[in-house]
Amino acid sequence: MFKRLLLTAIATLLFVFQFGISDASALDLTNEDRTVSVDDSGDKIVLTLQQVKKGERVFVDSCSYCHKSGTTKTNPNVNLSDKVLANAEPAKDNIAGIVDYLKNPTTYDGDTDISEFHPNTTRSDLFPMMRNLTDEDLEAVSGYILIQPGIRGIMWGGGKVYS
Ligand code: HEC
Repeated sequence: MFKRLLLTAIATLLFVFQFGISDASALDLTNEDRTVSVDDSGDKIVLTLQQVKKGERVFVDSCSYCHKSGTTKTNPNVNLSDKVLANAEPAKDNIAGIVDYLKNPTTYDGDTDISEFHPNTTRSDLFPMMRNLTDEDLEAVSGYILIQPGIRGIMWGGGKVYS
């Protein structure tokens, strides 16, 4: 009897470690939570759980150092909240807009090239951590950013850093 309980406990622990906390939370996301705009045409897609997980990994590895919880370290006004992304020029409230930024970043008004300052794949000579990111990785991290306001509400991109 005791042995069986012990085995069950071990199996449960293994299960929890195998699937991990982040997987469990990704599994909680509904289709609606994972729906994002593809581009400025209004077309939408539902991200797969795999895309969300991949996006989270890229974000943690390459972006969160400056964009913790959707804020922007040295320029809090240009954060990753849905409103600020939507009002950027060109708009970045969709996958294509953010992917484009990660290839050719410009100032918020779209006027000035900042590819020597913001990480991007075109100048991966300056930003080695961007070198191995594929188009799929860029789409996944863009999708991850776009679904955060719906999941985290004001805890994403707000004036304060809520860890
Ligand atoms: C070294 C710090 C740093 C890193 C790393 C970084 N960013 Fe940024 N990011 C910034 C800054 C600063 C700005 C504001 C630039 C400006 O002044 O226009 C910005 C702006 C942005 C914007 C535009 C936001 C808007 O509202 O228009 C997006 C999108 C973005 N970053 C995504 C990312 C993603 C995705 C990654 C990871 C692949 C990343 N950033 C990595 C510092 C960083």
